[in-house]
Amino acid sequence: MTSVVLDGVRKSFGSLEVIKGVDLNIGAGEFCVFVGPSGCGKSTLLRMISGLETSSAGKIVIDNKDVTDAEPSERGIAMVFQSYALYPHLTVAENIGFGLSLARRPKAEIAEKVKQTADILQLSHLLDRKPKALSGGQRQRVAIGRAIIRNPKVFLFDEPLSNLDASLRSQMRMELTELHARLGATMIYVTHDQVEAMTMADKIVVLNGGHIEQVGSPMELYNGPQTAFVAGFIGSPKMNLFEGAVAKDEGCRVYGIRPEHLQLSATDGKWQGTVRHIERLGADSIVYLDVETLGSLLVRTDGDKIITIGDTAFASPMPNKEHRFT
Ligand SMILES: Nc1ncnc2c1ncn2[C@@H]1O[C@H](COP(=O)(O)OP(=O)(O)O)[C@@H](O)[C@H]1O
Ligand SMILES: [Mg+2]
Repeated sequence: MTSVVLDGVRKSFGSLEVIKGVDLNIGAGEFCVFVGPSGCGKSTLLRMISGLETSSAGKIVIDNKDVTDAEPSERGIAMVFQSYALYPHLTVAENIGFGLSLARRPKAEIAEKVKQTADILQLSHLLDRKPKALSGGQRQRVAIGRAIIRNPKVFLFDEPLSNLDASLRSQMRMELTELHARLGATMIYVTHDQVEAMTMADKIVVLNGGHIEQVGSPMELYNGPQTAFVAGFIGSPKMNLFEGAVAKDEGCRVYGIRPEHLQLSATDGKWQGTVRHIERLGADSIVYLDVETLGSLLVRTDGDKIITIGDTAFASPMPNKEHRFT
């Protein structure tokens, strides 16, 4: 299995520096997710690892070999993109085996590897179909099949699920996680969606403006965000974050408390407010409380809780759940 190491990696386009010195160790067999807002440099960093983009400075090491200046084909990687262009006139089997056909591998070998790959991805019953007769999720699996069949040391994914609808996305998240467990390969996965990062990653790398904000497991980032940026980015609904006088009273620059870490009471509590809006999600509800000293405060409560817009309510932080950033 293969590790990936980035050492002081930088990238500029003209005078614009978009990757500002990244140091990162991705362990062999790890599922590593790069997450961050649009434009923070996720795709650029992934393309630098793939060799599709050169590095302006620093070193990239794959499988203990310095590949900083190596061609993409010499790096043992395979990439899956959001817009996976399947060949419309080829069958699923031909699409999956296309790379091996190009490399003029023997027909029997191609057929055997296509069969193995299709088995892994549950595409065996679809091998004779053309892409237009497939669902979005099946097409994406074919695209992943084209990567798997090459037996790469490292898989690189750039927002591969963005074009799928919500229920298919959550199914594909599970399938990719299971695929990772089965193949045991090193995977690097780019997304702007913190839910994908939380649900799939062994290791999350939060990027912001071309630098790393924090690296950790999903629960490390959820429980112990080191910056207000990470606090606001990881978790849904977002953590309540307050600057100014509120934070000063709490002895910090930014004070944070997650909606699920606030207790709601009709009679007493730390902050008194008026219920402005309620999002009923079923199992739980998100209550928007207007608090004079804070502004809007989001509180997650039990879906069964009886509460009405216009009610007076009190919110209190649960013990040891507050975050203070200096
Ligand atoms: N080929 C390029 N030339 C100039 N600027 C680029 C190029 N590719 C990306 N950028 C810029 O680099 C920044 C990071 O882009 P990108 O890596 O695509 O972000 P992300 O994938 O996180 O949305 C953006 O400001 C983008 O406009
Ligand atoms: Mg991108």
